[in-house]
Amino acid sequence: MLNFWQKLPKPFLALAPLDDVTDVVFREIIAGIAKPDVFYTEFTSADGLCSKGKVKLLQKFKYTENQRPIVAQIWGKTPENLYKAAKLVKDLKFDGVDINMGCPDKTVMKQGCGASLIGNNNLTKEIIDSVKRGAKNLPVSIKTRLGAGSIITKDWIGFLLDQKLDALIIHARTAAQMSQVPANWQEIGRAVKLKNKISPKTILIGNGDILSFPQALQMHKTYGVDGVMIGRGIFANPWVFEKTTKVHAREEYLELLLKHLTLFEETWGKTKNYQVMKKFFKMYIHSFEGANQLRQQLMETTSNQQAAQAITTNT
Ligand SMILES: Cc1cc2nc3c(=O)[nH]c(=O)nc-3n(C[C@H](O)[C@H](O)[C@H](O)COP(=O)(O)O)c2cc1C
Repeated sequence: MLNFWQKLPKPFLALAPLDDVTDVVFREIIAGIAKPDVFYTEFTSADGLCSKGKVKLLQKFKYTENQRPIVAQIWGKTPENLYKAAKLVKDLKFDGVDINMGCPDKTVMKQGCGASLIGNNNLTKEIIDSVKRGAKNLPVSIKTRLGAGSIITKDWIGFLLDQKLDALIIHARTAAQMSQVPANWQEIGRAVKLKNKISPKTILIGNGDILSFPQALQMHKTYGVDGVMIGRGIFANPWVFEKTTKVHAREEYLELLLKHLTLFEETWGKTKNYQVMKKFFKMYIHSFEGANQLRQQLMETTSNQQAAQAITTNT
């Protein structure tokens, strides 16, 4: 039987996992205006899911039916805990499980997780086998980078392809490069050639600096990727998954922000800090007359109600 990755159109678009951004509320907003072909949860610690902190962490695993297909992303380095986390993902009826092996964050890397697993083939193999066991028939993917300190596509991506993953997402930079240099799509092209030789059935997704469907189509044609993942492009344009790029009116942005505020309040109430909402103001409020002033006003608010009022008095 085909898994969901294999049934997607080519090229398909996925919304990247963005910690503290792509929660159930934000994904619902995006699903309502221009839906990607695949959603991801924020990355979630496997160790945390196996601790007393589990209840709070399960916030990250909330989703709605509207958001399918949705993949839960987990991170860690302990095979046993990753096995348990994958089992949980399966029980929660996600469509797939993804292992983060690309996060360059110091606190994550210091623990030997995220991008610090790059090149540690023995442990990586153990982790993949454990996650496959826990996930049973759910497809398993890995999101990684081209290397940790330097590009090692042939060794690292080649090794991952040997593991016969269902999907592989490659952020076209090394961990050391963070997001500070342009994404290296030529190297993604090399990874596609490796995949065609080693594991043609693995779905390969390129990631880095893509801002529209036409641009993703170009990457599919030039480099042969099956799909493209978009991250920060969503901050520049919440309609980034539209097949043809359109200009959206100020009223549409304001209406969308009001919807986001309402859904945030309904979903999280007091369980999530209102400050998180402030990450989104720039996304909705820019490039129109009075935008800077309104955004400044919004940044000074301390509750959803205050923010909603500031918007309605400006419409
Ligand atoms: C605020 C933020 C949070 C992120 N959180 C995650 C995460 O939880 N898991 C992950 O694999 N990558 C995470 N990333 C990396 C993105 O998923 C993506 O790989 C990166 O931004 C490059 O794609 P882009 O150029 O389209 O933004 C994060 C990036 C940003 C900017």
